[in-house]
Amino acid sequence: APPGLLDRYGRRATDMRLSLTDKCNLRCTYCMPAEGLEWLSKQAVMSAEEIVRIVRIGVDLLGVRELRLTGGEPLVRADLAGIIAAIRSNHPELPISMTTNGVGLDKKAAALKAAGLTRINVSLDSLHEETFAKLTRRPFLDRVLAGVDAAWAAGLGPVKLNAVLMRGINDAESPSLLAWALDRGYELRFIEQMPLDADHGWTRRNMITAAEIRSLLSVDYVLSPDPRARDGAPAERFEVRRRMAGSDDAQGAVLGTVGIIASVTEPFCSDCRRTRITAEGKIMSCLFSREEFDLLELLRTGASDDALAERWQDAMWVKPKAHGMDHVGLDAPDFVQPDRSMSAIGG
Ligand code: GTP
Ligand code: 5AD
Ligand code: SF4
Repeated sequence: APPGLLDRYGRRATDMRLSLTDKCNLRCTYCMPAEGLEWLSKQAVMSAEEIVRIVRIGVDLLGVRELRLTGGEPLVRADLAGIIAAIRSNHPELPISMTTNGVGLDKKAAALKAAGLTRINVSLDSLHEETFAKLTRRPFLDRVLAGVDAAWAAGLGPVKLNAVLMRGINDAESPSLLAWALDRGYELRFIEQMPLDADHGWTRRNMITAAEIRSLLSVDYVLSPDPRARDGAPAERFEVRRRMAGSDDAQGAVLGTVGIIASVTEPFCSDCRRTRITAEGKIMSCLFSREEFDLLELLRTGASDDALAERWQDAMWVKPKAHGMDHVGLDAPDFVQPDRSMSAIGG
C-alpha cells in the first residue's frame, strides 16, 4: 500500500476537508467579527480546476477516502455544483459531504444532490429568531430552517446539525433544540466552542463543556453510549431516551441520537484522520497547526502530481500531536489562539 498521509505519531489522514471560500454571509460571534474579514482576492482562491486536481491527487495518490467541502460558507461559491460534479465524475465512489450554514440551501439542495453530493451538515445554534440573529448577526433563521428541510427532502440525509453552545445565549435552549431535532430525525451535535473566533473573545470559563452539556440534557433525557464505532469522528454519540419523571431510568424507545463534540475538554487528537486545504490552497495538518504549506503556489508553478503529493506528505508529517487546550483546568491561562479564525481555516 502507498504510504499516504502519515505523521510522526503514526496517524494516517484519510479524511480531507477542503475550504472552497473564506467568504460567508453570516457573522457568527464565535467565528467572525461583525464587520467581516478582509476577503481573499479571486486570484488567491483555488479555481474549480485546481480544486479538482488537488482532490484527485489526494484520492488517487495519497489514500484520501472521504471529502468534506467547507468554507467560510461553501454555498456562496457560484460554481459549487460544477465543482462537485467534476469531482464526482473522477471519483464515482467517494463520499462527498458539505458543512454549511444553510442560507440559500433551500434553492440549491436538489441541484447539489444531482451533481453528486452525498450528505450535508448544517450549523444551527438556535431556533429562536432573536437568539439566532444575535449569534449570527443576521436575521436568517427561517431561511436556514428551509434549507435543512430541503436537504432532507433532496436525499442529502442523514442531516446532521451543529450547535455551538454559548453561556447565557443558547445553552439553556439545548434540551428544546434536541427535542426539535429528534422529532424530525436530524442528528444534532452540541459543540464545545474552540478559541477560533476572530475577536479573540473565547475564555475557558465561558465555554460550555461536554460535562455541562450532558448534565443540561439529563434533566429530560437519558443518554447511553451509541454502540456504533466512532471511527475517528469528533462527535461522541449517544442514544437518547426520555427520562422517567423523578427517576434515573429511561422510559420508552430510543428517540434518536445526539452527538457531543468535546474538542477542548475531551480531545480526540490521537485518533485524528484529518487533512485540510484552505481556500487559498494551503495545507493545514490540524486546525491549530502554525506552519502552513503552500500547495497552490507549487501547483501554479507547474509542479507534477508527484511533487504536489510529496509536499502534502511533508506537511502532514509534522502534524502536531495535540492542540494542548485540555488538561489545564479552568483557571489556567488561556490557550494561545491561532491567527486564523475558523472561517479562514474552513470549519
Ligand atoms: P461527520 O461526523 O462526518 O458528519 O462530520 P464532522 O462532524 O467531522 O464535520 P463538521 O464539519 O460538521 O464539524 C463539526 C464540528 O467538529 C466542527 O464544528 C468543529 O467544532 C469540529 N471539528 C471539525 N474538524 C475538527 C478538527 O480537525 N479538530 C477538532 N478539534 N474539531 C474539529
Ligand atoms: N468552535 C467550535 N466550532 C466552531 N464552528 C465555527 N467556529 C467554531 C468555534 N470557534 C463550527 C460551526 C460549523 C462548523 C464548520 O464549525 O458551528 O458548524
Ligand atoms: Fe460563517 Fe460558519 Fe463562521 Fe458562522 S461559523 S460565520 S456560518 S463560516
